Amino acid sequence: MKIAVLSGDGIGPEIVTQAVRVLDVLRGDGLKLEMESGLMGGCAVDATGEPFPEATRSLVKHADAILLGAVGGPQYDSLPRPQRPERGLLDIRKSLNLFANLRPAVLYPELANASTLKSEVVAGLDILIVRELTGDIYFGEPRGIEVREGQRVGFNTMIYSESEIRRIAHIAFQAAQKRGRKLCSVDKMNVLECTQLWREVVIETSSEYPDVELTHMLVDNAAMQLVRNPRQFDVMVTGNIFGDILSDEASMLTGSIGMLPSASLDENNKGLYEPIHGSAPDIAGKDVANPLATILSLAMMMRYTFSQESVSERIEMAVKKVLSQGYRTSDIYESGMRRVGTAGMGDAVLANL
Ligand code: IPM
Ligand code: MG
Repeated sequence: MKIAVLSGDGIGPEIVTQAVRVLDVLRGDGLKLEMESGLMGGCAVDATGEPFPEATRSLVKHADAILLGAVGGPQYDSLPRPQRPERGLLDIRKSLNLFANLRPAVLYPELANASTLKSEVVAGLDILIVRELTGDIYFGEPRGIEVREGQRVGFNTMIYSESEIRRIAHIAFQAAQKRGRKLCSVDKMNVLECTQLWREVVIETSSEYPDVELTHMLVDNAAMQLVRNPRQFDVMVTGNIFGDILSDEASMLTGSIGMLPSASLDENNKGLYEPIHGSAPDIAGKDVANPLATILSLAMMMRYTFSQESVSERIEMAVKKVLSQGYRTSDIYESGMRRVGTAGMGDAVLANL
C-alpha cells in the first residue's frame, strides 16, 4: 500500500501527524504500507511557486492512496488564481480523475448535544452525500472576468455531459444498495438545463437499480430539508457546486466539521482522503485542532482503496471509544468532558487502537 502524505497548510501538518501515528501502529501490526510525503497547497507555493508542483504530481500518480490535510491561508488569497492553494486541490482532483466524492455525515451518539440543532432532530443521523467532483461550474469553460460594453462582467459555465452524470449516478446507486436503499438526487431542474439533463440521466440509470428508491429534490428545498428533517435522507447525489454547499451544511448537523472525513475516488478506487474541513489558519500551530476527521479519513482509505474492512472498523472503533471515554477537542467540548489538544486526542486514539 503506497500512501502519499500531503500535509498542506494551517492545521494540516498537526492533524496529519496524528493520522500518521495511527498508520505507524498499523504498520507495526503487520500492514504492509509505505508512506512518502510531498508538498501541496500554500507550502508548495512557498517552496516552488506552484501549488501542485511536478514532484508531487509524480508522487501522487504512483501512489495507491493519498492522505491530505488541508490547504490554503489568507496570505495566499491575493495570488493570481493559478497559484492559489485551492487550485492545487482542484488540479489533483482533475488530473487523477477523482470524480466520486463521498462525504458521510454521521452523528455519534456521544456528540448529540454538540449540534446546533435539537438533539431529537439529529439523533441517529447517518447520511452519505455523493458529490460529483471533476465537472460542473468548477471546471466549465468559458470562464473569466472581462470588460463588455464598458463594464466588467464575470462568468462561469455550468456543464455536465451525460457520461459524467451516469458514472456518478452508478456510484450513488451502488452506495445506496449497501445502505438504506434510498437515493435522493438534488438538482435545480426548474431553472437550469444542465441539471434538467442531470435528472433525466439519473432517472435513466435508475432502471438498473430497481431495489433502490429514487427521489428528486430541488437544491433550495434540499438545503431546507437538511435542517428541517435530516433523517429523511440516506444517500444524496448531486453535482459539484451543490454538493460543496450541502456537504458543509450537513456537517454541522453532526456538531462539528472537525469530525467528518471524505473520500474522492477514481474508477479503480484509487483515492484521495481528507477531512472535509479547511486549513483553519486562526487555530494553526496551537494544538487545538480536532484530528478525528483525518483519522477517520484513514478508515475510509482502508475500506475503499485497500478493501481492508477490519482495519477500517478498528480505526472507527478506536474513535468511538475515545468519544465514549469523554475525550474532546475544543470544537466538540462540553463541560464535564476531558478537554484535550490535537496531540492528546492522537494519544487517546492510539491507546484505544
Ligand atoms: C471542499 C472545498 C474546496 C471545494 C475548495 C477548497 C476548493 O470547499 O473540498 O469542499 O470547493 O471543493
Ligand atoms: Mg467545500
